[in-house]
Amino acid sequence: MTEDILRIRGGKPLCGEITVQGAKNSALPLMAAALLCDGETVLHRVPQLSDVYAASRILNRLGCRCRAEGNTVTIRYSGSGSYEIPDADMRAMRSSIMFLGPILGRMRRCTLSMPGGCELGPRPIDLHLAAMRQMGVKIREEEGRIVCTAEKLRGTGIRLKLPSVGVTENVIMAAVCAEGETVLINAAREPEIVDLARFLNQCGAKITGAGESTVVISGGSPLTGTEYAVMPDRIAAVTYLCAGAAAGGSVSLHGAVPAHIESCTQVLEAAGCSITEQGGVLTLKRTDRLKAVPYIETMPYPEFPTDAQALISAVLCTAKGRSIIEETIFDSRFRHVGALLEMGADIRVSGKKAEINGVPGLHGAAVAATDLRGGAAMAVAAFAAEGETDLRALHHLDRGYEHFAETFHSLGGDVRRCRFSAKERENQSLGA
Ligand code: EPU
Repeated sequence: MTEDILRIRGGKPLCGEITVQGAKNSALPLMAAALLCDGETVLHRVPQLSDVYAASRILNRLGCRCRAEGNTVTIRYSGSGSYEIPDADMRAMRSSIMFLGPILGRMRRCTLSMPGGCELGPRPIDLHLAAMRQMGVKIREEEGRIVCTAEKLRGTGIRLKLPSVGVTENVIMAAVCAEGETVLINAAREPEIVDLARFLNQCGAKITGAGESTVVISGGSPLTGTEYAVMPDRIAAVTYLCAGAAAGGSVSLHGAVPAHIESCTQVLEAAGCSITEQGGVLTLKRTDRLKAVPYIETMPYPEFPTDAQALISAVLCTAKGRSIIEETIFDSRFRHVGALLEMGADIRVSGKKAEINGVPGLHGAAVAATDLRGGAAMAVAAFAAEGETDLRALHHLDRGYEHFAETFHSLGGDVRRCRFSAKERENQSLGA
């Protein structure tokens, strides 16, 4: 057995320019939506990630021919295939639940199980199932699997209890195949929803209001595959800005959409970074010591995103003063804090609040990623820390970041991805 680790030698500024990858959280629903289209769908700027490979496997099983060449993915539905998603594929990622709406839309039946993904506390799918029921789907449990069938999907009024991103996407994808109009109230407003609606409209769907709280979908229009470029990844953009803020230096991003990350750039500016935009390039500069940000609360878009919470907490570890971060979206999204403490941070977590008392500096440590963004936060802290950090459990990072080590390398970061055998790792931890 071998294991990859990232070896980061921190404590020096990051300087350079990078291009932001395509958004994982948009590419996955767009790939699922391609199942609804006749003819060929060509998606550009699809990031090369393990979650994207998992989505390709699911599409192939559902009867699509899904091919990837670099960052371009071509999908064509063959007209027949399975309506089941095997347990292993469901467990591979949370986004496997994104296939529920499209499979029902295309085949009127779907069998699946609970999805996997990052452990951020309980991540139920009750709201997905409730919305499908409202559209006429019958749902029962059989031998631990969820069996969904519908004679037809019908458009209806759906009011979400909370603005779930995944449920909004599933409803949109089922509703484009439903009879009549669906009015979705308290919809999520994330840019990825806008990207999905824009893609589907380009295929022939009739969706209005995406990006607002009420989305209206007029079902039944035939959908034909199209060529479409996935939006830039706003959380990857914030990750590299946070690394520049933590380590100091100057990080320039090509392709980021400043409006998508305004809630984050505002916090970074409040912490003392300078952020400018010129000619489509967003640049963060940090020279002096950062200052604490008294209070940050994670909220649905356009407020501060939960996906950036771990990243910003890594930045604030060395900011002068006390910062408080409150996580309101997920129950258990402070699992990265243990690693930051190992690196010398002073953080107290109580329930959904973390109190960060800034320390003058961090030091390298041997740590393991706990989840996708948590792992990225550890890397951000490692670039700020003196000495060497070994970051393990990279499968979490591989789910969401394309060419993570290479990207930091082009910012001048001292980082290597190394492969060790179990024996070598054991010797290392014994100091041999
Ligand atoms: N929820 C329910 N029942 C449901 C669905 C959601 O109670 O049936 C709850 C969740 O447990 C959570 C809240 O609703 O407390 C919001 O979850 P949401 O459904 O909005 O999240 P998601 O669609 O599962 C997406 C992103 C996450 C991101 C969240 C919040 C994708 C593939 N994932 O997840 O991204 O944190 O929205 O913005 O789009 C990541 O990229 O690292 C990541 C975890």
